[in-house]
Order: sequence, then structure tokens, then C-alpha cells
Amino acid sequence: MSSLIFGLDIFTTSLVLLVTFLAILFFWHRHHWKLPPGPAWFPLVGNIWELTSHPDLRITLQRLQKKYGDIYTLYLGPVPTIVVCGYDAIREIFIKRGIEFSDRPAANLPIIMFNGGKGIGSVSGDIWKNQRKFILVTLRRFGFGRYNLEDKIQTEVKLFVSEIENLNQTPFKMMTPIQTGVGNVISHLVFGAHFSHNDPRFKIMMDGFDSFVHYLSAGYLVSFMPILRFVPGDLFGIKNIAKQIQVIKDFVNELIEEHVNKFDERNIADFIDAFISEMNKQNDGENNIFTKEYLVAIIMDIFLAGTVTTSTTITWASFYLATRPDIQSRIFEEIKANVGMERLPSMKDKQSLVYTEAFIMEVLRMTSMVVFSISHAPVTDVWIRGFHIPKGMQIFPDISSVLSDPAIWGDPANFRPERFVSEEGTLLKPAEFIPFLKGRRNCIGASLARMELFLFISALVQRFEIMPPEGETLEINDGGTHAPQPFYILAISRHAK
Ligand code: HEM
Repeated sequence: MSSLIFGLDIFTTSLVLLVTFLAILFFWHRHHWKLPPGPAWFPLVGNIWELTSHPDLRITLQRLQKKYGDIYTLYLGPVPTIVVCGYDAIREIFIKRGIEFSDRPAANLPIIMFNGGKGIGSVSGDIWKNQRKFILVTLRRFGFGRYNLEDKIQTEVKLFVSEIENLNQTPFKMMTPIQTGVGNVISHLVFGAHFSHNDPRFKIMMDGFDSFVHYLSAGYLVSFMPILRFVPGDLFGIKNIAKQIQVIKDFVNELIEEHVNKFDERNIADFIDAFISEMNKQNDGENNIFTKEYLVAIIMDIFLAGTVTTSTTITWASFYLATRPDIQSRIFEEIKANVGMERLPSMKDKQSLVYTEAFIMEVLRMTSMVVFSISHAPVTDVWIRGFHIPKGMQIFPDISSVLSDPAIWGDPANFRPERFVSEEGTLLKPAEFIPFLKGRRNCIGASLARMELFLFISALVQRFEIMPPEGETLEINDGGTHAPQPFYILAISRHAK
């Protein structure tokens, strides 16, 4: 191999040049911009050791917050990233100054693989405004976020209950039936279709979303440390995930094609029809979102955001029900007294099922599943608390720092639904309870998610006693992960007793 500098081969020379370039970039960033403090940073790898030093990311983040304060800088590979912790700072930046921080940073590898960087969760500026407005208006037209979607959710709840009934007390993983149930609610809104619990195409799609989330951190790692792309084989599962994503896209494209073929302007039955109708109006201009590429990206985003989050929360709920029989029987007694056993709980019952709702809130608080939320970016160069941050820089709200702050909750590590019930027995709604975040870019599906959580979880407890399989104990993974490790539970029908 030819020698270039001081007898070094071409690979070593390139590496030295790259490291030097990144080191200069780092010092330039720190000094040109006035970035918040943060842990020592190494060229190429950034703070990767720091971030992987504990299996529970929340513990690492708590340590960093204690050391560097509520706003600090982390390097994800060579990419500087601002982390914002604590309710006050999150409120100040993402809620009060939400407009200034409403962009998303440039899409990274996993997102580009997933939706080409074109879905609602990753776009910025006018494209984002146009998408968000169209999505909200159109989904509302089909019942989204309103009580008249309840019938559709109840249809899925009934199928979910009978699916569990049919298992005949065999141990099962909650994620399987719940993903189909919750996925079908979104499917009804977007595709105007329901898929059977055994439909292989739907199952492949749901499994694909699951695997995508599973490989997301590996994808981020490769994205922030591009050198890892040259590791031979598929050590990080990236090629595998690309294949899974293609399978989902083929399915989505197939459904779009079916809609195009039977399109009738006088009968707009679902989100895809409404989108095709806009495409037919031949919009153009640089902010036109009505293209097939955007349609696929939006569908991918809505499905991912709308199914994995809600079904993981319900899976966590089944974990707490199985491990805390005392809490489970209190929920059951409340449902029995206020709803009875003859019909499923409905949204009308929500007001009287205070403890049930408090349980759901405690699951959302305790698991703080979307730890880092989705990263935002400043729309222009901004100053925050004496720090100067450039336009487009990645900035994360650390939601878990709020949901587990002892100054707010007292005993955040204890699972205690009572914290959301007042002495008078009414439901407390503390401002610091922000699992969906708030502000300009907040979760568009929060009200749908809360309806689904209420209807699925209350039906589950009304119909079944949830417990660990015989002879097994389910233990909370100390400092556990946010997606629970796969576990089996047993559902004993209360009618059969
Ligand atoms: C337990 C369930 C859920 C949780 C905990 C959750 C949480 C979140 C959080 C924390 C964000 C980031 C907000 C921000 O960046 O400021 C978000 C964004 C989003 N969520 Fe949810 N979500 C849930 C369910 C849903 C559902 C059912 C949908 C259905 C459509 C949905 C659609 C979205 C979308 C599209 C965004 C991106 C909004 C934007 O970028 O403008 N989510 N969600």
C-alpha cells in the first residue's frame, strides 16, 4: 500500500485526517457557538461510552443531569446534541418557546430508510405545517380524537377479548393480540379496512414495525458513526431492517394501488382516499406534499407512532396487573361497582373509573417510554439560558427526567396509582404529567391513545384475571428497559369462574 505521510498507509492517513478534522470541528463548535457543558468527547465516537454505561438510559441521563445541569451537550458520534431536562427547562423551551424549536434536525439513517425523511415526524417548516394540518383535519373527519371513534375501537376491543378467551388460559405474550387490536384502529382510519388477527400481510407489517423499533438504536449508532457502515456483514442488523421496511412499503403501496383503482371522488371513505383527492387537484410548488412518496411516508409514520407506543403501554400495563394483584383487584372492584359485568366499559364510564384512569396514568409515568421524545431543532440560531445554539442542531427533551423527578412525585420509583387521586377521590392532572409532551409539535394521537388505553385496559381487567404463568414470577427488571422484555402472562376468564 502506498505511503502518504510519515510512512503511514492510506487507511491510517485518512483516519488521522478525519479525527483531526472532527477535533477541529468540535472545538470550533464549542467556541464559535456557546454550547452548554457536557462530558468529555472523543473524536468519531463522541459520548458513546457514556451513553452505554448503564443498561437503563434513564439512569445515565439522571447522572448527567446531576453533573451538568438541566441543559447539557452530548456528542452522538461527532454530532453535537443538546439535552434538556426537568419540567421548568422543558416548559420554557418546548412549550413557551415552542415555535422557535418546532423544526426537526436533518433526518438520520434509520429515518431515511424508514420514510425517506418525508413523514410528519421528521419534516420541518412549511412542509411540516401543511402535513400536520392535512393529517389532523382529515383524520378528524373520520372520527380521530372524538368520541364517535369509540364504536370502531370497541369492535377491536371485543375481538381482542375473544382472542384472549380463545387461548383457553394458555400463557401468551400480550404484545401479539394488542398490536393487532391497536393496529386495526389506525388501519380503519388510514386504509378504511380491518385485518383479521390471522392475516399474514398485516402480521408481517406489525412485526416489521416492531423490528424497526428494536433495531432503532443500532441504526442511530451507525448513523452517528458512519465508519460503522464499513463493518462487513450485518453486525448491526441494518440490512435486515432495510428488508423488513421494504416488506411494509410493498404492503402499503399495494393498498394505495387498490385505492387508486377504485377511487370515487363522491365517496371519500378514509385517509388514503382524501389524499388521492388532493393529489388529483394537481397541486405543485416546492411545498407540495400531495405526492405518492409523501403519502407512503405519512402512512409509515402514523402507523409506527400510533401502534408501537400504545401497544407497548398496554403490554406494560399487563405486566403491572400481573405483578400487583392488589392494584388489579382494586381496578376490578371499581369496574364491577360502576359498570357491572354485562357490558364492556365505555367512554361514558371514564368519569366514575377514577382509579382505573389513575392506573393508566401511572403506567405512562412509570415507563416514560418515549424517553428522549423525538428530537427537535431550532428554526433559527437561538439563545437559551446564556447558551447559543445554531439553527438545525439536534435538541432532545428528556421526558423521563420530568416523569421520574423526586421533587415532583416524591417517590417516583414506586408504582402507586393513588398519586393521581385526590383526597376527595377525583382525578388529579398535574401539569408535569407530560408523556405526550406539549407544545407546537406535541403528539397528534394523544387523545386517541388515551381512549384506546382506557377501553382496552378496562375491558381486559373486567373480563380476565391477569397473572404470571403457574410457578413463574414476573420480576420488574431492575432499572428496566422501556420496552418490556418479552414475557408471558396468563388470563383467567372471570366469567368461567
Ligand atoms: C401511549 C401512546 C403514545 C405516546 C406515549 C406518544 C408520545 C409522543 C411523543 C412524546 C411525541 C413527541 C412530541 C414532540 O416531539 O414534541 C409524539 C409525537 C407524535 N405522535 Fe405520539 N404518542 C403516543 C401515541 C400516538 C398515537 C396513537 C398516534 C396516532 C396517530 C401518534 C402520533 C404521533 C405523531 C404523528 C407524532 C409527531 C408529531 C409531529 O412531529 O408534529 N402518537 N408522540
